Amino acid sequence: MRTSLNNDGESTLLARLEQIEDGGFAEAEARFDGTPESVILHRDGAAVRAWLNVCPHAGRRLDWAPGKFLKSKDGLLVCAVHGASFELQRGQCVAGPCRGDCLRAVPVEVHDGAVVLAGQAPAT
Ligand code: FES
Repeated sequence: MRTSLNNDGESTLLARLEQIEDGGFAEAEARFDGTPESVILHRDGAAVRAWLNVCPHAGRRLDWAPGKFLKSKDGLLVCAVHGASFELQRGQCVAGPCRGDCLRAVPVEVHDGAVVLAGQAPAT
């Protein structure tokens, strides 16, 4: 299994693909510059997209309990704190108090069913 390295030079397996419901979410922890960060994982078939679990509105976590995320009937990720709604391609807020802002993307790859970090730091 190929894995990626984080800033600490360690292999970083975030999750197994089969642990994430298709169309659903999971939460994982990754280290950036030695600092643990909560990461949102969203599965879309065989692909996974990821963002820091930090809402651009007030900097809070988006999940209502660890790893429990709200999804609207329209397929948007909804922040549990004040209801900002994010589309799941770019992580852009399309409704709510931080409309137009984006979640910070975390580069991930899927190799042999393993979801791993693919880069050094979240994109800004
Ligand atoms: S912290 Fe997410 S909508 Fe306010």
